Amino acid sequence: MTKDTVVMKPGPIRIILCDSNEIVPYLWKRFIPQAVPKNDKILCIHHGYLESLMENIRTGNDKHACKQYAIVSPGNCFGYLGGGFDLALRRYFGGIPFEKWFREQLGGRYHTVGSATVVDLLNCPLTRTQQQRDGMRYIIHCPTVVAPTKPVFDSRAPLDTGYKPVFNAMWNALMHAPKDIDGLIIPGLCTGYAGVPPAISCKSMAFALRLYLLGNLISKDLRNVIIMYYLGYPYEPFFPDSCREECALLGIDVDTLMKFDVQSGSLEDILPTYLEQEGE
Ligand code: ADP
Ligand code: NA
Ligand code: NA
Repeated sequence: MTKDTVVMKPGPIRIILCDSNEIVPYLWKRFIPQAVPKNDKILCIHHGYLESLMENIRTGNDKHACKQYAIVSPGNCFGYLGGGFDLALRRYFGGIPFEKWFREQLGGRYHTVGSATVVDLLNCPLTRTQQQRDGMRYIIHCPTVVAPTKPVFDSRAPLDTGYKPVFNAMWNALMHAPKDIDGLIIPGLCTGYAGVPPAISCKSMAFALRLYLLGNLISKDLRNVIIMYYLGYPYEPFFPDSCREECALLGIDVDTLMKFDVQSGSLEDILPTYLEQEGE
């Protein structure tokens, strides 16, 4: 594989990052430089309320237009939709009756932080939901808090209470995205009630997204290795020799990867940067 022959294949899904807090889109752009602004077929960033994004989509007056969308809900473990981004979902899709139906779809039970459950809005019997939803087909419920009584984040443990839960939620959202969508809407994860500082959350979101967008330009084995070191588990037995050769081909320095520290390290140090730039 040489630099000249590598072409980034845009996935069939367009990712739309959406947040009303201006610092969040600003940091997404900073952590995903090669996607801004040229790759808007595979990644768009909407600074504003979900309501304004939906309005643009509904009126067809939108550069983000896709046929069928999933929306990620950074929810709580019980599926209540009473605050943050979820409240916007509840208002949009039909208020309290919608919340009741949504919780039934989750089996009415506790779902752990780190889980992901896909709810198909096509099954919703509420007229208002069906009238409003347009191309919105699924909600991917990715709980980030048990309940919003206190932040998840603890500044003494930024990896375990910040970088890691955000990466896991984002990775889960991407891995559980149904195959029949062409648009995936994702807000800041853990940047509201969960209280993770945007600089930490956006770095992990960008890392998960950039790995995902590489698709099969990188082997699954190497993807796993990079995730392992990003999350602070420097375990050499899980680093196959074949991956060392691939690192050399992709321009990733093995020593830098093995010493990676998520707080001080740059994403550029552990990602095959030129492959991403080929996509522009
Ligand atoms: P978490 O519990 O994971 O912190 P929240 O729902 O509290 O989740 O917040 C997630 C993100 O959603 C925050 O960055 C917040 O700015 C954003 N957000 C909240 N409401 C809206 C909305 N109506 N439109 C767009 N973004 C929103
Ligand atoms: Na949440
Ligand atoms: Na929420």
